Amino acid sequence: MTAGARAPAVAHGLGIDIEWGGDGVPRSRRFDDIYYSPEDGLAESRATFLEGCALPAAWAGRESFTVAETGFGTGLTIAALVHLWQSAKPVRGRLEVHSVEAFPLTRDAIIRALSGWPELRPVASSMAGAYPADGPGQGVHRLQWAPDLSLTLHVGEVADVLSAAEFRADAWFLDGFAPAKNPAMWHPAVLDRIGRLSRPGARLATFTAAGAVRRGLVAAGFDVRKQSGFGRKRERIVAVYRGRPPG
Ligand SMILES: C[S@@+](CC[C@H](N)C(=O)[O-])C[C@H]1O[C@@H](n2cnc3c(N)ncnc32)[C@H](O)[C@@H]1O
Repeated sequence: MTAGARAPAVAHGLGIDIEWGGDGVPRSRRFDDIYYSPEDGLAESRATFLEGCALPAAWAGRESFTVAETGFGTGLTIAALVHLWQSAKPVRGRLEVHSVEAFPLTRDAIIRALSGWPELRPVASSMAGAYPADGPGQGVHRLQWAPDLSLTLHVGEVADVLSAAEFRADAWFLDGFAPAKNPAMWHPAVLDRIGRLSRPGARLATFTAAGAVRRGLVAAGFDVRKQSGFGRKRERIVAVYRGRPPG
């Protein structure tokens, strides 16, 4: 540990251990990875996922728009999404959000993780108010705190959740820890299912540019492009769903 750094505090939640680094960033002991960038998690979520999926332009003029995420984690990216929705939503628009999570954090952990961004405070507090104190149990949980949006948390293993899911997404945020540390979240069958759950023209964004993820997305019917990454990350992927390749 570097001089002056605080000892990490470990929280034993529902099957997942998170610890808080001296920089205040939560880290998963199970996956040995961080939930968001220590440089600025909110800026990273906005650059990677919101801009990566061309939001808010992509929902302009739409009466309903569906966003899906793999890896709800602290809810930071979804809080950033809802914050953007509130300032730039289409007239009479409705936002439906689906997020997959196998190891939900507790409400207190979510509140702590989001506390560093005062601009997110109203959204974070509404979202946390609708979120079960001990974290949601296995299954599907629809949280609603405003008439024009809903957040459905699908608690379970990503492959099982997506094979049972029936929504059709206009935008995808893939955020499941680094592929090298958590290959299950990026399995070709998971990426294939993501394609099948996409509307034509759906956009997808992720922080990784791993070759296996790129190939899996192409096989699933996405046009894939690399863009420069956030902060110290060199590259990341954005993609558009064109339909499954013939054959
Ligand atoms: C990088 S974190 C997500 C960060 C999140 N988007 C946020 O805004 O805080 C990755 C998440 O994926 C979840 N996860 C990891 N493997 C999973 C799996 N096989 N199925 C479902 N969720 C998984 C982890 O528990 C973790 O919360």
